[in-house]
Amino acid sequence: MKFNVIGECCLSAAVLLLILLYQCASSQASPILFSQDWMSAKSRHSNLLKDALRGQTPNDEPSELWSPLPDQGWRPCGECTRSSGKPEKSSGYLQIFLDGGLNQQRMGICDAVAVAKILNATLVIPLLEVNPVWQDSSSFEEIFDVDHFIDVLKDDISIVKELPYEFAWSTREFYASAIRETRVKTAPVHASDQWYTDNVLPILQSYGIAAISPFSHRLAFDNMPVDIQRLRCKVNFQALTFVPHIRALGDALVNRLQYPSSISDPELGLLHDFSYRKTFIEPQKFVVLHLRFDKDMAAHSACDFGGGKAEKLALAKYRQAVWQGRVLNSQFTDEELRSQGRCPMTPEEVGLLLAALGFDNSTRLYLASHKVYGGRARLSTLRKLFPLMEDKKSLASLEERARIKGKASLLAAVDYYVSMHSDIFVSASPGNMHNALVGHRSYESLKTIRPNMGLLGQLFLNKNMSWMDFRQEVVEGHQHRHGQLRMRKPKQSIYTYPAPDCMCRA
Ligand SMILES: *[C@@H]1O[C@H](CO)[C@@H](O)[C@H](O)[C@H]1NC(C)=O
Ligand SMILES: *[C@@H]1O[C@H](CO)[C@@H](O)[C@H](O)[C@H]1NC(C)=O
Ligand SMILES: *[C@@H]1O[C@H](CO)[C@@H](O)[C@H](O)[C@H]1NC(C)=O
Repeated sequence: MKFNVIGECCLSAAVLLLILLYQCASSQASPILFSQDWMSAKSRHSNLLKDALRGQTPNDEPSELWSPLPDQGWRPCGECTRSSGKPEKSSGYLQIFLDGGLNQQRMGICDAVAVAKILNATLVIPLLEVNPVWQDSSSFEEIFDVDHFIDVLKDDISIVKELPYEFAWSTREFYASAIRETRVKTAPVHASDQWYTDNVLPILQSYGIAAISPFSHRLAFDNMPVDIQRLRCKVNFQALTFVPHIRALGDALVNRLQYPSSISDPELGLLHDFSYRKTFIEPQKFVVLHLRFDKDMAAHSACDFGGGKAEKLALAKYRQAVWQGRVLNSQFTDEELRSQGRCPMTPEEVGLLLAALGFDNSTRLYLASHKVYGGRARLSTLRKLFPLMEDKKSLASLEERARIKGKASLLAAVDYYVSMHSDIFVSASPGNMHNALVGHRSYESLKTIRPNMGLLGQLFLNKNMSWMDFRQEVVEGHQHRHGQLRMRKPKQSIYTYPAPDCMCRA
């Protein structure tokens, strides 16, 4: 992910330097100060919260909220994904190195297949780089079902798990140590198919191999041949499935959300046969809330999240350390940022949004989240509103989580899987996971609520708004944000907006 920075801003730099000096001088005391300050931090929206907790939510049409999306006249269809045939002769091996977290890599894999197709090349299973933030070294095979991947695409392109012995020299280390003729380093962002035939095909023809790095976002979404677009869709929506143990854990979590009595004994382990129960009991509905509220995001947004002086200092210090204080948003006041909808919602604000939409304390909520800045305390209001809130930890035993523990990509994969199986998905933060799931759920016509950040920013600024007015504004402002298909516009991603490229009219 790239961050925009502004040029020098002497005044704020000087202020931040002072803050930094202060932090250094009191570095021993600050963690304690921080947590005390944290506990005493007041709700920013105590009036709304009081009424929301009192349950002033006359459920007008609760069925409306949970009902599936009405038919929109579009389907993922068979002909869309019919393969266009494998080239007779391979032009060489295409090796791709992918940066980013799970979902960025996912898009990179789809594009890698497309580029291999454009070049008639044999694709080597892409190499996933270790992300500096997430620090997960899981390989493609450890995340995705590689045999399924190869099988689904077998009529479209040739794929090998590893390079043959004669090309074994082509490694990450080889490219890191010097300039190499077989490495393509200059692929422009959103390059055309022609760019690849002009610049990469000659390398394949001369050397029998080409290695592209960096590759993320290096294939255009516009003016691509139809069969290439459809192939990208086929990779994303059909070829990429998670490894069996991720799917099994995901299924177990989904089952425990739908049949909560099974939660009472999390040590039971993975139960495989729920079929007898399903014939008698209607599964309960649940919402997945994707919440990304980590320190990185909080600091980058430069908003005030109500954590008091200590939090402000901690975030300013982080901005200084990571971006030398040059964060675009820091030139605006908190109020300006909020009215423009540029502040990530806090867990409390997300809770108020959900309550206003009509969810109540009987709603089962699954929290898809990596780390919440501020921890337990920051989540307390959300939990008060939604006491039936679960996550990976609360639903699965230690043994069940052993294989994914500490592995950011696998943890994200489990959340992705559960999110795809929820009745409603709400993403409170923009980003790659949001885009990937919004796209995948649109493709399957599943309900997804997209928060109207501009509206919510303004509503939250108005401190004396009544709960009834707030509710009405929220409901009206989200009428067309329940997952209705939106056609892709130029420059937009086919992975976020799968219609019309990946879908056909019914
Ligand atoms: C949910 O809210 C209602 C009304 O405010 C209350 O009577 C009930 O005890 C609450 N249930 C839970 C599980 O907190
Ligand atoms: C790939 O192969 C097809 C035939 O299978 C051919 O029409 C096309 O020109 C080839 N493309 C390249 C870039 O070699
Ligand atoms: C809030 O209420 C005060 C007095 O009750 C009033 O003066 C002010 O204009 C109100 N603010 C908004 C944004 O409605």
